[in-house]
Amino acid sequence: MSASAEILKQHLIDPEICIRCNTCEETCPVDAITHNDDNYVVDAEKCNFCMACISPCPTGSIDNWRTVMKPAAYSIDEQFTWDELPAEQELDVVPVAAESLQPIDAAEAADDEKALELDAKQLADPLSGSQVPPWSASHPYVNLYGHKAPVTATVAGNFRVTGLGTESDTHHIVLDFGSTPFPVLEGQSIGILPPGFDGRGKAHHARQYSIASPRDGERAGYNNISLTVKRVTTDYDHHPVRGVASNYVCNLKKGDEVRIIGPFGTSFLMPNHPNSNLIMICTGTGSAPMRAMTERRRRRVELNEGGKLMLFFGARTQKELPYFGPLNNLPKEFIDINFAFSREEGSADGQKRYVQHAMRERADDVAALLKDDNTYVYVCGLKGMEAGVLEAMRDIVAEKGIDWPALHVEMKRAGRLHFETY
Ligand code: A2P
Repeated sequence: MSASAEILKQHLIDPEICIRCNTCEETCPVDAITHNDDNYVVDAEKCNFCMACISPCPTGSIDNWRTVMKPAAYSIDEQFTWDELPAEQELDVVPVAAESLQPIDAAEAADDEKALELDAKQLADPLSGSQVPPWSASHPYVNLYGHKAPVTATVAGNFRVTGLGTESDTHHIVLDFGSTPFPVLEGQSIGILPPGFDGRGKAHHARQYSIASPRDGERAGYNNISLTVKRVTTDYDHHPVRGVASNYVCNLKKGDEVRIIGPFGTSFLMPNHPNSNLIMICTGTGSAPMRAMTERRRRRVELNEGGKLMLFFGARTQKELPYFGPLNNLPKEFIDINFAFSREEGSADGQKRYVQHAMRERADDVAALLKDDNTYVYVCGLKGMEAGVLEAMRDIVAEKGIDWPALHVEMKRAGRLHFETY
């Protein structure tokens, strides 16, 4: 065996930048990525360098590599203990026989081929969305502030946006950056670093939250943003837990200081061109980016740029739907709002009503918009709704004789279909 076969360019995740959003683990087609309470890690035995995880990562922490001798590759157990990536090692390498080296052109061609294969796979995946932004989106800034140098924002306001006496304690929090630059676009997110340490004495990890305000500020012309945060009191299996970051954020008082990293996100961005339509589909706090986009459009309404806004918004009950009051005050000709309440008394057939049901009820209008190249779709909220929403879109357009697989591919390619679910 030649010496070159012993060298591995090992794929690693930078624990200092990673915001533990789980995107890479969900994306990896060979289950090479896993996590524990501390870190997300890559199993060198399983990673086949397909690169599927690289572009969806909102922070870029996924794109790290170390050259190691293959038998000495960092194990996942070792990676779990890291607070930072190890330095690049000096390898004591035996000179590689010339015939075992691939010519550079051939290596690049192989990389290109792999990238094309990956694109084709992603485009053909019946459950995926776009990895590129709309063509007319503004250019986003990302990773301006990291764990080592977070920015400090001051809380300018914190109030509850769901009805009292319900389980859903959701807050609207306004954070002011003073004179520190923090440029954002609608659809981007930030990371909040909760103070203190976990049970093992380690600093808490950052938690990611979508921004709920438009690019020119929660208050237009001010250097501030807003978030929509639900207090976490149970885990996915309904066992009681106390969400560290969400409780910290929901309890913040005016004047408190918060450490923030980011911004993050390069594709879940809105189009800027006239006559572009938005279909926004969300549940609960997934409404944050929809609020940002809607407010951006509302502030520009007098420019008469055209384009329709259609919103499908799901919540357990009316009282548990964040921003129910302000949403209802928006003019009907500005935005077409469709609510789906799953636990409201008196549903005719005892069936739960979800956003995908509301979409089916509006099939004619949804189909007309989907057919239009200027329509951009955004889905944010519970992971579970992705499949239901895609099925609804498939059936709605099929009913009109449109080839859904072809339209789906075209929408993905054109940055017209975006998912942000958790
Ligand atoms: P439900 O929990 O009654 O089944 P939450 O309040 O937990 O953030 O949820 C927001 C809304 O999303 C609720 O109405 C919830 O309904 C609904 N929901 C739950 N699962 C799905 C799903 N697979 N597709 C669409 N909506 C869903």
